[in-house]
Amino acid sequence: MGASSEAAPEIGYVIKRLRPTMPAFDALRRESRSEGYWMLVRLADGWASGRNKFLKRGEALFGAWHGRDLAGVCGLNIDPYFEGRDHGRVRHLFVSVPHRRNGLGRMLVETVIDRARRHFAVLNTRAPREAFVFYERLGFHRVEGEEFVTHRMIFGKGS
Ligand SMILES: CC(C)(COP(=O)(O)OP(=O)(O)OC[C@H]1O[C@@H](n2cnc3c(N)ncnc32)[C@H](O)[C@@H]1OP(=O)(O)O)[C@@H](O)C(=O)NCCC(=O)NCCS
Repeated sequence: MGASSEAAPEIGYVIKRLRPTMPAFDALRRESRSEGYWMLVRLADGWASGRNKFLKRGEALFGAWHGRDLAGVCGLNIDPYFEGRDHGRVRHLFVSVPHRRNGLGRMLVETVIDRARRHFAVLNTRAPREAFVFYERLGFHRVEGEEFVTHRMIFGKGS
């Protein structure tokens, strides 16, 4: 990883809608694989096949840029594990290692939450155990006994 990938807080992060087709995305996908994660591989495959291009109502894919580096990714889909369109789902969240614990995961997921509350009644995710505290810090509550959901945020009136 080059020096340009080091987190330099003075540059700041810019969150934009993402098309995961450029070399910067490939670099992040490779990094995620070397850490043992598949979420960016699944994202690239779903996009390339046309199965998931985040085009249904409420859906969006966001990238966080740090200069020319793509530092993180997070998507919002209609939850495919539930009937109907009331459940949103956080998908494909990944923050590059040198950018972790800088508030970037929070920025990405809060961007998704702001959008999700306008379109969905709840927002679900299935997090790996190492991300449980992260989601709980953001206000998701732990869900027990559901195969496809470990954490949920419920949007009440006025929330
Ligand atoms: C989980 C992940 C997205 C967190 O991103 P991040 O940018 O490091 O998180 P932030 O810096 O925004 O942290 C937000 C809050 O969560 C807490 N937090 C983040 N990671 C944590 C950890 N591993 N253990 C405990 N707390 C953690 C932070 O302290 C922070 O709390 P605060 O804002 O109340 O002070 C990142 O570690 C990652 O990409 N992991 C690998 C992939 C993964 O697990 N994705 C989730 C798939 S559902």
